[in-house]
Amino acid sequence: MSASLLSILVLHGPNLNLLGTREVSTYGIASLDRINQSLQVLAKELEATLEIVQSNHEGVLIDAIHASRDKQVGLLINPGAYTHTSIAIRDAIAGVEIPTVEVHLSNIHRREPFRHRSYIAPVAIGQISGFGPASYELGLRALANYLRQSQ
Ligand code: DQA
Repeated sequence: MSASLLSILVLHGPNLNLLGTREVSTYGIASLDRINQSLQVLAKELEATLEIVQSNHEGVLIDAIHASRDKQVGLLINPGAYTHTSIAIRDAIAGVEIPTVEVHLSNIHRREPFRHRSYIAPVAIGQISGFGPASYELGLRALANYLRQSQ
């Protein structure tokens, strides 16, 4: 593995600030802070640095993706409900051409039909869905592995 640090942007979309109290039978009891702490621990092991942003606003997420052009080499994103609606987030990822892994706590493919479509998946390297907080950790590992291989 290269000694250089991988700079990665982690984006959490709308309502994910409520994790731990929101629909716990679907999303579990882990808070967003706890998920972020685990990601920071894993980032050290993977020799990566993380900038982590949660927003309930599409434009804030898009601005962070645009800014990643000058700062980051990869994007780990849980777009929340914007997964199923946001052509604008998809276009932002396509526009900056940042290698992206999409993650979801729940398995979106076994839920309501409106969750089966992801506008993000076609511009992502891959998608990890259904493993609870571990989806984020698996996603970070997958992204770091991809980025190391393309160095
Ligand atoms: C989610 C799945 C989405 O359908 C939903 O709108 C969310 C969370 C997940 O992590 O399972 O807000 O992205």
